[in-house]
Amino acid sequence: MTAALKRAKPSPFRDYAAYLSRLRRLVGDSNGDAEWNNRVDAALNGQASVELRRIAPVEIRRKFGAFFTGTELSSKLIGTCSGFGAKSVFYDPTCGMGDLLVAAARKLPLCDTLPNTLRQWSKQLTGTDLHREFIDGARMRLVLLARQRHKSQERLEASESEFFPNIRVADGLKETDLYSRASHLLLNPPFGQVASALGCEWAGGRITGAAAFVVAALERAKSGTRMLAILPEVLRSGSFTEQWRKRVCEVAKIHLVQPYGIFDDSADVDVFLLDLSVQADNRTPASCRWTPPPVTCTTIADFFDVHVGRVVPHRDEERGPLRRYIHPRNIPVGTEVTRIVEKRRHSGKAYQPPFVVIRRTSRPGDRYRAAATVILGKRPVAVENHLIVCEPHNKSVAACRSLMAEFHTQGVNEFLDQRIRCRHLTVGSVREIPLNSFDQPA
Ligand SMILES: C[S@@+](CC[C@H](N)C(=O)[O-])C[C@H]1O[C@@H](n2cnc3c(N)ncnc32)[C@H](O)[C@@H]1O
Repeated sequence: MTAALKRAKPSPFRDYAAYLSRLRRLVGDSNGDAEWNNRVDAALNGQASVELRRIAPVEIRRKFGAFFTGTELSSKLIGTCSGFGAKSVFYDPTCGMGDLLVAAARKLPLCDTLPNTLRQWSKQLTGTDLHREFIDGARMRLVLLARQRHKSQERLEASESEFFPNIRVADGLKETDLYSRASHLLLNPPFGQVASALGCEWAGGRITGAAAFVVAALERAKSGTRMLAILPEVLRSGSFTEQWRKRVCEVAKIHLVQPYGIFDDSADVDVFLLDLSVQADNRTPASCRWTPPPVTCTTIADFFDVHVGRVVPHRDEERGPLRRYIHPRNIPVGTEVTRIVEKRRHSGKAYQPPFVVIRRTSRPGDRYRAAATVILGKRPVAVENHLIVCEPHNKSVAACRSLMAEFHTQGVNEFLDQRIRCRHLTVGSVREIPLNSFDQPA
């Protein structure tokens, strides 16, 4: 196959062309009446995302990481920082339909005429994306915003492609120039899993693409550049992403880490906002606060040993002693289980009752973030790895009962909602649960 034919591979978002034609007509239609204004409001507020969902199934959007930020979240992100002026230069390396750039443009001053504003904004708003459709759309939406803010019915001489030459089709991971020119980086990168680069010191195996984009941006931006980013919650609170957090702290000064909640109803993933300044050789990594400050009162770790269950059912061979076996489906929440019928062979660690287990799978909004069961009995129990085991130091049943009651309180729900919003509780987050009113029974 020739290179030309390879290049001609159809775009996964080609059906978006009809929507882009509608946008183009709106840009050209300069009458500025109330109906035009309403249509522009819609075009700048979520319509691009709705139209994309209509033409591209979620599997395709996931594969290419195409989820556009809504107006509320974009403005919240831009609102974390102030003082934008004529010298501010924004770069969104994965700009999609330009939602973050639109939010930034809302804060930029206007010039005396519409063409002058567009010329000025063209110097200040830069972006890249792999898909031509999105780049065309981002440029048109910025022209629409400028025209609407100017209340201008003026015909434009240049087409929208002559404005915003630095919003262009390119791979944001290969770009260098636009990073080094930016005073502000805006990021909502693709969250899908990618292989970490060979020799990467802060990750091994597969990582979220978002982690790679943040590090690439930090390594290419000049010192003092501000980065405002929307990132998957797993980067803030996951235990496997600690090296990534360390790497960020080495080269940046963190201003804000703020859990946000679900990105939107089409991308069911928790996100947080990150605001930092690039600061090469940052000497104060200890000041980084990714999660709420550690509690100073007593915590679960003071009274219990906490571990993940050792049985990985589809991986572990069934050999070794025959054990009583528990997993989330055979131990009801909120009960004390003495009789365990299910058994399996397991050569690894088994736990001696009494102990408490909680489900690892847990998300904000669940009735109990730490859904617990007390395990009693005389014989050691093999525990599946979807459960977290809490063994009391004093080996007492009473301590286990108190802990289960404590797990099912609003205080624990609130603590975990702040501490860890991703779908799997970590051992670290459970150890840190404060036990304010916990009376260690004898
Ligand atoms: C989650 S969307 C966010 C778009 C935009 N930043 C926003 O907040 O609405 C991520 C975008 O990254 C683009 N993308 C994925 N990989 C890319 C790469 N290597 N270089 C540039 N863009 C990329 C996708 O096409 C998609 O439009």
